[in-house]
Amino acid sequence: MTDKQETKVIHSGRIQDAFNSVMPPLYPSSTFGFDRLGVNKGYDYTRSGNPTREALERCLATLEGGVDSVCTATGMAAVLGVLNMLSAGDHVIAGHDIYGGSYRLMDDVLSRMGIKFTFVDMADPANVENEWQPNTRLVWMETPSNPMLQLTDITAVVAVARERGAITVVDNTFLSPVFQKPLALGVDIVVHSTTKYINGHSDVVGGAIISNTEELAERVRYITNACGLTESPWDAWLILRGIRTLPQRMVAHATGAQALAEHLETHPRIDAVYFPGLPSHPQYELAQKQMTGAGGVLTFDVSTDKDGLDRLFAELQLYSLAESLGGVESLIESPWYMSHMSMSEEARTRAGIKPGTVRVSVGLENPEDLIKDLDRGLAAL
Ligand SMILES: Cc1ncc(COP(=O)(O)O)c(C=O)c1O
Repeated sequence: MTDKQETKVIHSGRIQDAFNSVMPPLYPSSTFGFDRLGVNKGYDYTRSGNPTREALERCLATLEGGVDSVCTATGMAAVLGVLNMLSAGDHVIAGHDIYGGSYRLMDDVLSRMGIKFTFVDMADPANVENEWQPNTRLVWMETPSNPMLQLTDITAVVAVARERGAITVVDNTFLSPVFQKPLALGVDIVVHSTTKYINGHSDVVGGAIISNTEELAERVRYITNACGLTESPWDAWLILRGIRTLPQRMVAHATGAQALAEHLETHPRIDAVYFPGLPSHPQYELAQKQMTGAGGVLTFDVSTDKDGLDRLFAELQLYSLAESLGGVESLIESPWYMSHMSMSEEARTRAGIKPGTVRVSVGLENPEDLIKDLDRGLAAL
């Protein structure tokens, strides 16, 4: 097929059925009949395989350039599915400013099962090399990171890990395959919270694991089926509907975020703006090298207390005070008091998060309206 994503999202998730359905049909059946012992039509039980979910899996594998993908019930199920490939005694190096829920799963849950984790500042790939141990099996990258939008040089980290025989993983939720293709940079596995941009309409939760080799793909399929992590066909069907406009939405999100970031950079109440599309971002050059767009999330710092943040949020008419990101509607939140509360205060501080840090998921509203609304909120500080 074509290499153009606008075409792929429409055509790679199609299902040929008896009625020539133009849109992929939904198969909610939990089980599928056998013609005779050992012979069926390719599916036996929905946890292991489902035609609707497979259409989404095919679409995501095509977009990321992987050999296979497995769609999971949530983004966290995707994170768990990858890490469940490890065994007690294995060691993982991960970024210290990854999504708070991924951090909690690693630091609080899987560490009790004997998997060891070291969290490092991945802005400098030398930190990965310095923390390497003989039992390091996997390197977990999230770039841009959540919420500080710090970048990891994917190619540099892959070089360190590959030389030592470890698996590399990128959580590509923030950019989607429209703006970043980690597998093409040598990464082994990409994960997504499809809850975010891939679905794009804040009406479903889901995840995906996309693998670069048949061997990894087989292990991922085995683990996700064995652990019961796979996605409901209903949710897969909704995500298939959302993904059809992913390329156009990403461009519009990035355009809005760029306008807002440039405006905030000049605002007297703002201490710092974090957005990889700004030339002032310390890794702007890296952004130009490994990304084709800056995404739709930006973060800024204001000097205020919790009451001040509440005054700012209360003033806003176009932003919902809510966690999550990647929907058509703009969201605003406080990583310190909301999305990253699952990290200890010390871990949040180490990751650069302050009580006055604010994260914005820029929706598809008119950027001028979004700027005016946020200015109204900032005036209330
Ligand atoms: C970067 C990233 N990865 C993973 C997740 C987890 O996804 P979910 O909430 O769909 O389980 C999130 C959720 O916010 C996220 O932002």
